[in-house]
Amino acid sequence: MKVFTTKKELQQHLLQIKNAKKSIGFVPTMGALHQGHISLIEQAQQGNDVVVCSIFVNPTQFNDPKDLEKYPRTVDADIAMLEQVNCDVLFNPPVSEIYDDNEQWHLEIGPMEQLLEGKSRPGHYQGVTQVVAKLFNIVNPDTAYFGQKDYQQFSIISKMVELLIMPVKLVMCPIKREADGLAMSSRNIHLTTTDRQHALVLSKTLNWVKENFDIAKISQLTHEAELTIGAEEGVELDYFEIADGKTLLPADGHSSIIVALVAAKVGKTRLIDNVILSR
Ligand code: PAF
Repeated sequence: MKVFTTKKELQQHLLQIKNAKKSIGFVPTMGALHQGHISLIEQAQQGNDVVVCSIFVNPTQFNDPKDLEKYPRTVDADIAMLEQVNCDVLFNPPVSEIYDDNEQWHLEIGPMEQLLEGKSRPGHYQGVTQVVAKLFNIVNPDTAYFGQKDYQQFSIISKMVELLIMPVKLVMCPIKREADGLAMSSRNIHLTTTDRQHALVLSKTLNWVKENFDIAKISQLTHEAELTIGAEEGVELDYFEIADGKTLLPADGHSSIIVALVAAKVGKTRLIDNVILSR
């Protein structure tokens, strides 16, 4: 695997690939890689000649400096995992390679970035779109791959690509789960053994909602889900929403895609999860 830390060297390398008419699949990450990320790399390999992964813990998407400081950084282990699956290129830039001092601009994608995660983490999606726009400009991929676990992130990035007419195709890959149902996340590293047990209420409740989706009203499902998660020891529910999969507003009779989205603090760790209920 070729590892680049500067835009210039990465772009020189990618230019040769483009000139050879080879397709580039791109998997942007913040590192602390797990099997969920590896499934994105594998999906990118199936559809492209060359796969580029980036590892960059993006400071502008953290509204809490303590959260940024605490974010797991495991670059050596990440490189070993990427080499194991034959990823072609890693871009691992320092912050100074991506941002100027005091860089202030952001993109306005619309109301969706103020809902749910956006409401709980003000400015989060402005940081995400800022860095993803830059990474797309640097890598210029044919296709980029994101996990369904960050469903709202995928919706917002899709909107950005549509509004800015960016020449990249986006693919959302299914959530990877541990054997007991916990959605894989870089943040799971912070869960204690007890937190880990309590955290299962999230995936179990989402499954229950999916099983009962055809027989119960959305309001009943939401109420029951909130009660179940709220009653779990060590779990502080932030939101549970059955939302329109396109607008992320509460689902109604016109919603063609419906998704149940949850966020909760388990011990000291904030987790998110979701399930798609209908298409
Ligand atoms: O999903 C992530 O890991 C990050 O939000 C992303 C898309 C790499 C942007 O920093």
